[in-house]
Amino acid sequence: MVDLSVTLPGMELDNPVIPASGCFGYGREFADLYDINILGSFVFKGTTKEPRFGNPTPRIAETPSGMLNAVGLQNPGIDVVVKQLAYLNRYFRKKVIANISGFSIDEFVYCAEKLNDVEQVGIIEVNISCPNVHGGGIAFGTDAKSAAQVTKAVKAVAKKPVFIKLSPNVTDITEIAKACEDAGADGLSLINTLLGMRIDLKKRKPLLANKTGGLSGPAVFPVAVRMVYQVYEAVKIPIMGMGGVSSAKDVLEMMMAGASAVQIGAAGLKNPYIFKEIIQSLPETAEKYGIKRLKDIIGAGH
Ligand SMILES: Cc1cc2nc3c(=O)[nH]c(=O)nc-3n(C[C@H](O)[C@H](O)[C@H](O)COP(=O)(O)O)c2cc1C
Repeated sequence: MVDLSVTLPGMELDNPVIPASGCFGYGREFADLYDINILGSFVFKGTTKEPRFGNPTPRIAETPSGMLNAVGLQNPGIDVVVKQLAYLNRYFRKKVIANISGFSIDEFVYCAEKLNDVEQVGIIEVNISCPNVHGGGIAFGTDAKSAAQVTKAVKAVAKKPVFIKLSPNVTDITEIAKACEDAGADGLSLINTLLGMRIDLKKRKPLLANKTGGLSGPAVFPVAVRMVYQVYEAVKIPIMGMGGVSSAKDVLEMMMAGASAVQIGAAGLKNPYIFKEIIQSLPETAEKYGIKRLKDIIGAGH
């Protein structure tokens, strides 16, 4: 018997597998396929103050071993999301992670405050790393001072633990990580997508209407492992690791790099059953490497 349980601030998880924001809707979409209570938890789609249609299409492009997306934070707005969360426990009984985004510090604060009274939200994940919107998102995540300002402002109002989601599109991710820790973050999530682009040979134009998009999927896995490893050495707060994870072995590797829990995004868009398959194969895979308790391997690669 392998003990799969892990701990995050304010949350005890049966296992470390968590579908990532933007790749699992609000859970309901997957609950028709299987009982999603098997998951450690899940992160729902990034939410802003106002409803957003997102970017024009095409906003998805294939890449070798991954994908580009430029969805642009399509969501119904925080008020609708909070209302819908009242029905969440019909199909998911555990705590969820809320992902919020904003175009100003006030917007982040507004969204965080709205989530304070939603009992089922265990952690607020603050996305300061969306590469697909203009004038917000990544602008906060690529500058240590701005990252710290958002963190401080959200922490001042949030009654839930706050994780800041970091961008890989920076020279030194540890600098931003440390700024967030110093500003009071309870944890860090990384990585968001890597800025990329493809060009349509026939049209001689960028394939995505937004021109650029975020690269994710197995192609980014080694980049994500490297960044989780670096951030683990730089801070003391827990890390949710993600980027290219698509197997039980990847989950173990991400944890050895320093992740306390592991999120999975693009892989679930290709195979919606992958979260369940990975959870089911984790005990056998862990046993193969002599692991009895997953908690024991967090940061073991250092
Ligand atoms: C279609 C799509 C939509 C996404 N939307 C969000 C989002 O709303 N908020 C966010 O923080 N990250 C978003 N992400 C980033 C993922 O949560 C994750 O950080 C990233 O894709 C890396 O993990 P992966 O390689 O397993 O996909 C999105 C990713 C994809 C592919």
